[in-house]
Amino acid sequence: MSLVALRGVTKHVRLPDDTRLDILRGIDLEVGGGDHVAIVGRSGSGKSTLLNILGMLDLPSSGSVEFRGRPIVQESGRRMRRGALDRLRGQEVGFVFQQFNLLPGRTATDNVAMPLGYATGRPFWRRRRLAEEMLDRVGLSHRLESPPEQLSGGEQQRVAIARALVRRPALILADEPTGALDVDTGEAVMGLLDEIASETEAALVTITHDLHVAARARRHYRLDMGVLSEVDLDAASRGTALGAVTGATE
Ligand SMILES: Nc1ncnc2c1ncn2[C@@H]1O[C@H](COP(=O)(O)OP(=O)(O)O)[C@@H](O)[C@H]1O
Ligand SMILES: [Mg+2]
Repeated sequence: MSLVALRGVTKHVRLPDDTRLDILRGIDLEVGGGDHVAIVGRSGSGKSTLLNILGMLDLPSSGSVEFRGRPIVQESGRRMRRGALDRLRGQEVGFVFQQFNLLPGRTATDNVAMPLGYATGRPFWRRRRLAEEMLDRVGLSHRLESPPEQLSGGEQQRVAIARALVRRPALILADEPTGALDVDTGEAVMGLLDEIASETEAALVTITHDLHVAARARRHYRLDMGVLSEVDLDAASRGTALGAVTGATE
C-alpha cells in the first residue's frame, strides 16, 4: 500500500479580479514507504502547492488524497475532520522549508522540542531528551542552547531537519531545502536528510531547482504549469530532455 496517493488532484484559486488561476491540473502521484522522490519545476509551477497537499496542509479543489489508504479527501469532496487531519499530519509528516522557519530567540533544543509539546503526552524532560538526541544526530550537540540567529544557514537547516524528524514521521517533505545554502553546505544537508530518511525508513519528497539535489532521489518528476510528468534523469543527462529539466533552474 502506498503511503500517500493523489489521484486526479487539481487546485485552483479565484484571483481578486475574479479570474480563475489553475495551479495544479490532474495530478496522479503515489509515494510509498521509504520512497525517495524529487520534483523539479520553475518558480510558480505549483511545487509548494503540491507539497502542501501531499503533507495535508492544503486540500485540493478536486480529486482524491489517501494517506495509508485512509481517505483524506474523496472524489465526492468529502473530507476528513480538521482535528483528525491535524493529528495525522503531526504524527506522520515532517516539513523542511527553504527559509528554515525557526523561532528566533529560542534555543535549538526549544525549537526541536516544539512539535513534541503538542498533545504527545510526553513529560518535559523526555521531550528535551528527544530534542537533544535529534540535535546530536544532525551534528549539533555543541549548539543545544544557541538561538537560530547565532547559527549559520547550514546549522539552521540542520536544526530545522532535527525539528522535522523528532517525531519520526513516515513522510518527510522538503521544499527547496538547499535553496538558501551554498553548494557544499547544501550537499551536506541533503546527505544528512537522505541518511536519516533511510535510517528511519521514511519517505522523502524533495522539491528543488538543483539537478544535483534531484539526482539523489530514486524517482524524478517535473512540474510544468501545474502538470506533473515523470522524468528519466539518465536519459535527460544524455541529451533529449535535458533542456526541459534544466529549464527548471532559475
Ligand atoms: N492562495 C493563493 N492565491 C493566489 N495565488 C496563489 C495561491 N497559492 C499559490 N498561488 C499562485 O500559484 C502559483 C503556484 O504557486 P506555488 O505552488 O507556490 O509555486 P512554486 O512553489 O512552484 O513556486 C504561483 O503563481 C502562485 O502565485
Ligand atoms: Mg515554492
